[in-house]
Amino acid sequence: MELTVNGRAYRVDAPADEPLLWVLRDDLGLTGTKPGCGEGVCGCCLVLVDGQPTYACTTTAAEVEGRAITTIEGLTAQDAGGEAKLHPVQQAFLDAQAGQCGWCLSGQILSTVALLAAHPAPGPAEVDAAMDRVYCRCGVYRRIRAAIQRAAEVSRAETAGGIG
Ligand code: FES
Ligand code: FES
Repeated sequence: MELTVNGRAYRVDAPADEPLLWVLRDDLGLTGTKPGCGEGVCGCCLVLVDGQPTYACTTTAAEVEGRAITTIEGLTAQDAGGEAKLHPVQQAFLDAQAGQCGWCLSGQILSTVALLAAHPAPGPAEVDAAMDRVYCRCGVYRRIRAAIQRAAEVSRAETAGGIG
């Protein structure tokens, strides 16, 4: 099957029922997507499919053939000098120190990217809904909420041309 991940096309030889999670990790080496419950509950395997938050453990690779898959690795860009440049949501999570073990963070960050794409100025209920997609076993929810608010502020400032 052919998958498009982070804007790049891959040909993958995997069983039709292979979860996307394991294709990403084992076949493509994209280990930023984390395994957890394996049952579509915890959200640490969350990726974006056509921009929509999707649990990679309960989605087969065959189901998302031909669609645009984004993993945490796909958020980081390169600046003109070839240096890695964090996505504003990644930077906001870093600035807020919104992580302890870090296992949930790729799901948290991608869930936030989807949130801000749909709601540039999210209200508390929208933030709650985005956070409900991903459990944090370390319980650093206060910092995660602060990171989301910071990311929303930065995103709005960039849209308004306040930050280059
Ligand atoms: S590992 Fe996919 S939702 Fe928990
Ligand atoms: S930082 Fe450890 S699970 Fe969230």
